[in-house]
Amino acid sequence: MSSPRNLLEQWFPHASKPFIANAPMLGTANSTLSAAVTAASGFGFIGGGYDFSPESKQMSALSNELAATRKLLGLADKPNEPVPIGVGFITFHPSALPHFINVLKPILQQHKPAAVWLFAPAETNPGTHASIIPALKDFSQQWNMKVFVQVGTVSAARSAVLEGADVIIAQGVDAGGHQWTQGCGIVSLVPEIRDLLTSEFEGKEVVLLAAGGIMDGRGVAAALALGADGVVMGTRFITARESPAPETTKKVLLEARDGGATTIKSTVHDDVQGTGFWPVLYDGRAVMGESYRDHLEGVSLEDNVGKFKAAAKLGDASRRTVWAGTGVGLAREELSARDIIEGAQKLARKRIKDHFNHPSAASPPPVPTQSKPQHYQRRAVAHRLIPPYWRPDFAPSQPVSTNFKHEVGGGGW
Ligand SMILES: Cc1cc2nc3c(=O)[nH]c(=O)nc-3n(C[C@H](O)[C@H](O)[C@H](O)COP(=O)(O)O)c2cc1C
Repeated sequence: MSSPRNLLEQWFPHASKPFIANAPMLGTANSTLSAAVTAASGFGFIGGGYDFSPESKQMSALSNELAATRKLLGLADKPNEPVPIGVGFITFHPSALPHFINVLKPILQQHKPAAVWLFAPAETNPGTHASIIPALKDFSQQWNMKVFVQVGTVSAARSAVLEGADVIIAQGVDAGGHQWTQGCGIVSLVPEIRDLLTSEFEGKEVVLLAAGGIMDGRGVAAALALGADGVVMGTRFITARESPAPETTKKVLLEARDGGATTIKSTVHDDVQGTGFWPVLYDGRAVMGESYRDHLEGVSLEDNVGKFKAAAKLGDASRRTVWAGTGVGLAREELSARDIIEGAQKLARKRIKDHFNHPSAASPPPVPTQSKPQHYQRRAVAHRLIPPYWRPDFAPSQPVSTNFKHEVGGGGW
């Protein structure tokens, strides 16, 4: 039996190690971005959409995007060859259960993507993936299409494996965009899902990827150390040169710092922009912009929606939702997809190698001799951790600002 990392090599031989995919971000991950990611030896995903009704505009647009990707990757004259990219679908919509397969079967058979990604079934329709996955696998046997499922909890990972997923994406709450309302970071989620795969599904060929807050090689190395076989990055690729995101969005992302303070997980982003139809199981992380600040100030939803619509009419982008993960402060310049992937792979290898070459990796560091009484050391450490103006002995040389709202908001907009 192959190890999960070798499975990735077998299934997607064009992809180099460590495996890096772009997230199938609806509206951002198009043919240009996904082809650029695959061409750079990553794994490109297109955001396919959520409306599977027979008259769905999203699905006809998807067909065009898939044809464009095939062309961009130089496979237009080889229609029987699978395209080494995937398509992501959001599955909570009421049209998923009755129409997913009959609407998508002809599209996927025509374009033969190497993978499909499913995310966000409705809690009211728990059998959606259980019925979709076997049907997908059945009609795609000829080109061996793999099924990825993104999850935010260990129990959802268990369900996904039982339903037939080949790849589980453990999505932590650091992630940009939609995610489990109640979840945890990948530091806890990835190892616990790895343990689940080892203890409950031994011998089953399932790959584990990590998503959420991974922006460069340091995040990649960390994810591998936690037990992932590869990673998915979303926010970092929105800022890629090949990303179709508006310049205003890229500017907000590239200028944002300190993502824990400047982004927030909430349902308000959806409510204001008119996409509040997500099931309660999910919310979304975005940069705190004008609309969110108005919400904090007590502006009613109705008035906030009015302001959002008025700004959109005037072409004012300041109220647009900018979905982003907590790692946003690490994206400082627009890079090509190739530079993002190769840079992250190179840095991940270096971090892992340097760690094992470091003298401290060979033998444990000596235990420091205690030169001061223990209580004094503790106070010294605590003192360093406490901001000066919270210390009891603080005497301000200048008046202290009480404009906490401004400070907390970062003043970056
Ligand atoms: C702008 C944006 C759009 C997204 N759209 C989707 C989507 O359509 N389908 C999906 O499964 N995940 C979507 N996600 C979530 C990603 O799959 C992924 O979990 C996330 O980007 C990882 O976190 P990161 O952004 O910190 O890298 C989106 C994320 C962002 C930032």
